[in-house]
Amino acid sequence: MGYIHFILVLTFIQVHSTISVVTSNKRQAIEIIIGGGGIGIGGSGNTPTYPTDPTPPPAECSPPPSPPPPPADCSPPTVPPSPPPRPLHPPPKQPAPPPPEQPFNFLDERLSVAYPVIQNFKKIITSDPLGITKTWVGTDICNKYKGYYCDSPPDNVTAITVASIDFNGFHLSAPTLDGFLDKLPDLALFHANSNNFSGIISPKILKLRYLYELDLSNNKFSGAFPPALLAPNNITFLDIRFNFFSGSVPSQIFSRNLDVLFINNNNFKAKLPANIGTTSALFLSLANNKLTGQIPSSIGKALALIEILLLNNQLSGCLPYEIGYLEGLTLFDVGNNQLTGPLPCSFACLDKIEQLNLAGNFFYGPVPEVVCALGKLENLSLSGNYFTQVGPICRDLINRGVLDLKNNCVLDLPFQRSPMDCAMFFSRPRWCPFLQSYNFIPCKPSHSPHASTRQASYSGWKAPPLTHSSLIKHRL
Ligand SMILES: *[C@@H]1O[C@H](CO)[C@@H](O)[C@H](O)[C@H]1NC(C)=O
Ligand SMILES: *[C@@H]1O[C@H](CO)[C@@H](O)[C@H](O)[C@H]1NC(C)=O
Ligand SMILES: *[C@@H]1O[C@H](CO)[C@@H](O)[C@H](O)[C@H]1NC(C)=O
Ligand SMILES: *[C@@H]1O[C@H](CO)[C@@H](O)[C@H](O)[C@H]1NC(C)=O
Repeated sequence: MGYIHFILVLTFIQVHSTISVVTSNKRQAIEIIIGGGGIGIGGSGNTPTYPTDPTPPPAECSPPPSPPPPPADCSPPTVPPSPPPRPLHPPPKQPAPPPPEQPFNFLDERLSVAYPVIQNFKKIITSDPLGITKTWVGTDICNKYKGYYCDSPPDNVTAITVASIDFNGFHLSAPTLDGFLDKLPDLALFHANSNNFSGIISPKILKLRYLYELDLSNNKFSGAFPPALLAPNNITFLDIRFNFFSGSVPSQIFSRNLDVLFINNNNFKAKLPANIGTTSALFLSLANNKLTGQIPSSIGKALALIEILLLNNQLSGCLPYEIGYLEGLTLFDVGNNQLTGPLPCSFACLDKIEQLNLAGNFFYGPVPEVVCALGKLENLSLSGNYFTQVGPICRDLINRGVLDLKNNCVLDLPFQRSPMDCAMFFSRPRWCPFLQSYNFIPCKPSHSPHASTRQASYSGWKAPPLTHSSLIKHRL
């Protein structure tokens, strides 16, 4: 990564919050500011469009940097004052040939380059129910055109260019973005949630060297995972959820330098690539596809991971104990798959885990007390499996409404499967490879085994998990 510290602006949650993350393995501090309609783009005020220069990383163990001031209000981006209007028609002294066509008066050369690109795109838009493109007239792209935001590009601080586009919720229809996106060379952000764009993602977008956020969610894109996004690029936020992409999830995507990858709610099939653990992503959502096969054990190497959603797929096999290495994980959701085997004791190392969802699978055996003792657990969802035993710490969690163990085989608890149902399940031999690994705890449990030391994490307002918002089609 060419920078150590940057501010990533995500615009799709209605709440304002700041999550400060220090992934010490990369010595990289990332602040993710989730700012609702207050879009932090546009070069106005305090949220720069382009990544800022590297600043020294905070000393280890120091408190996180204080949150930056909230994004500027809805005032338009600041731009240098326009030159005074020219006199339109100097009084003709004599009958003269018609004046040569008045050259457009753009604030900057780069905007005059963007102008025809935008006008050509306007021509191929087939539906614009909100009348957005009516504002795309004249030369004042930075202030008058809905969806466009200007800023100074990194290569020339005195220039002004189209730096970001936010078409979220515009409901525009166009058969392609080719010839548009790739012809705006300074673009850093492209957000197009909830439009009707389709076609292919052209490899030409690789020319956009500053592009770091690409959001094409809830559109009509189809076909294979766009090969253009697999080549080296500077995209750190990639969101193609709620489209019609199909085929397999290519292994190369896990080698890209992504912080956020949302590909949920598509038609991806086939197995997860074995190299999934090479991902640098902090937030990964692969939910609501048709992924099959096992969760590769390499996942234990994805040490930057904070949240991962794999729910509602067709994953099978046993959980690799290596998941226990993901010590930054706060949310792990594999609900509604066909996973089986015991719950690995290595999960006791997930010190930061808050939400753990294994509901609706074929897990069995005892629920390890060391997992129920995890100090930050807010929601341990194990319903609809075949777990057979729970100890006192887990029972305490059930009483507190943290652990949902309904519809299992702990026959002295209420709301369990019938003994017949359980007997049927266990009449078939159940087996996982590396069975010893399920008892292995690859960390020194740092928590007290007594749930009573549970931190008072319920007081005060808390941001909902970022990936959970990826399961909602619309952003805004
Ligand atoms: C930077 O941009 C300004 C404004 O467009 C332009 O006048 C100037 O020539 C540019 N400088 C370079 C080095 O390109
Ligand atoms: C796309 O267009 C169809 C009709 O052409 C419309 O029903 C649908 O709501 C549009 N989708 C979006 C996301 O705007
Ligand atoms: C990524 O960004 C850097 C810095 O702006 C630039 O030099 C490089 O060419 C970009 N890489 C790609 C593949 O666009
Ligand atoms: C706990 O998580 C499960 C699975 O994600 C969810 O269905 C349930 O509503 C959650 N419970 C609470 C109390 O938030």
